[in-house]
Amino acid sequence: MPLPKSAYLSEVWKDGIFDNKVVFCTGGAGTICSAQVRAMVHLGANAYILGRNVEKTEKMAKDIATARPGAKVIGAGNVDVRKFDSLKNEAERCVRELGSIDFVIAGAAGNFLASIDQLSVNAFKSVMDIDVLGSYNTLKATLPYLAESATKHKSDGLTPCPTGTGGRIIFVSATIHYSGLPLQTHVSVAKAGVDSLSNNVAIEYGPRGVNSNIIAPGPIGETEGMERLARMEDSQSYASTIPSGRMGRVKEIADATIYLFSDSGNYVNGTTIVVDGGAWRMHSANPGSGFKYPDFLLSGEEVTGVAGLKKSKSKI
Ligand code: HXC
Repeated sequence: MPLPKSAYLSEVWKDGIFDNKVVFCTGGAGTICSAQVRAMVHLGANAYILGRNVEKTEKMAKDIATARPGAKVIGAGNVDVRKFDSLKNEAERCVRELGSIDFVIAGAAGNFLASIDQLSVNAFKSVMDIDVLGSYNTLKATLPYLAESATKHKSDGLTPCPTGTGGRIIFVSATIHYSGLPLQTHVSVAKAGVDSLSNNVAIEYGPRGVNSNIIAPGPIGETEGMERLARMEDSQSYASTIPSGRMGRVKEIADATIYLFSDSGNYVNGTTIVVDGGAWRMHSANPGSGFKYPDFLLSGEEVTGVAGLKKSKSKI
C-alpha cells in the first residue's frame, strides 16, 4: 500500500540526495527495513530488496517504488541469507540491473520467544545462522561494490562530494544484549555478534572509505518483531515504562538511516545509533514481553500469545 511520506520520513531531508545511488537490503520486505528503503527511494535511490518469501518481497518492491515517480525497486524473493552463493548472485544481478551497490542494509533477522529450556540446539543455531552468518554473507557479497562506491564518493568533511555519498553499510541490531533479556538468549548472543562484526568492518574497511554502523531499534510499534516479542494486551502498559513514553515508529529508524547514509554521517563510523526512546535503560526492571520474571521461567510454562510460535523439540 503506498504510504504518505509522514509515515516513513521526516521533512528535514533534501529530495535528490541519493540520486543515481543504489541501496541493497536484506530483510527488505519487513516492516522496519522496508521503511528504511522507502525513505532512501523517496530521496532518490533505486533499491534491491531481498527476502525468503517471493510474493511478499515482490509485492513490497512494487509498493516501495511508489515513493518516487521513476524509481526502480527490484524484489528478489527466495533468497536465504544463510546461503552465500545465493547472495553473491543477487549482488551481481543488482549491479547488472541497477548499476552499483552504494549502500547496504543488513536487516534479515530471526526471532521468537523461548526460554533456554524451550530452545533446542537447532533453534539456537537457526537464529545464529540468520543473524550472524547472514550478516557476514551479506557483507562479503557486497564489500567489493561498497569499496568501489566509497572510492568514487569521498568527502573531506568540509566540501560535500558533488556525486554524493556511498560505500556505507548499516547492520540492524537490537539493544537486548546490553543488559540481557529473558526468553531472548539466542537473539542476544546473535546481536552481540552482529555488533562486533560491524565494529570490525569499520576498523578494517574505514581506511578504504567504507563506513559501517549499527542501528539498534528498540520497541517499534506495528512491527513483526514486536508481535513476536510482546503479548499485544501488554503493549500499553509496557509503553508506559519507556522513558519517552511511547513505542517508536518505523519512520524514526528510517530517519536514523538517512542520517548515517547522507552527508550528515560522513564522520560517523564504527558506532551504534540506538533508537529506542531510552527503553533499554529500563530492561532490568521490565522484561518487556509480558512474561513475569522470574515466575514464568520457574513455572515451566510454554510461551503463548505472541507471533512466531512453534513447538520446540527441546527437552532437558
Ligand atoms: C521454540 C522454535 C520456535 C519457537 C522455531 N523454533 N520457532 N523453538 N519456539 N517459537 C525452532 C524449531 O522448532 C526448529 O528447531 C528451529 O527453531 C528451526 O526452525 P525452522 O522453522 O525449521 O527454521 P527456519 O525456517 O529457518 O526459521 C527461522 C526462524 C523463524 C528464526 C525460526 O522464526 C523465522 O524464519 N523467522 C524470520 C522472521 C522473523 O523472525 N522476523 C522477526 C524479526 S524481528 P527443532 O529443534 O525443532 O529442529 C527481530 C527483532 C530482533 O529480529 C530485535 C529484538 C529486540
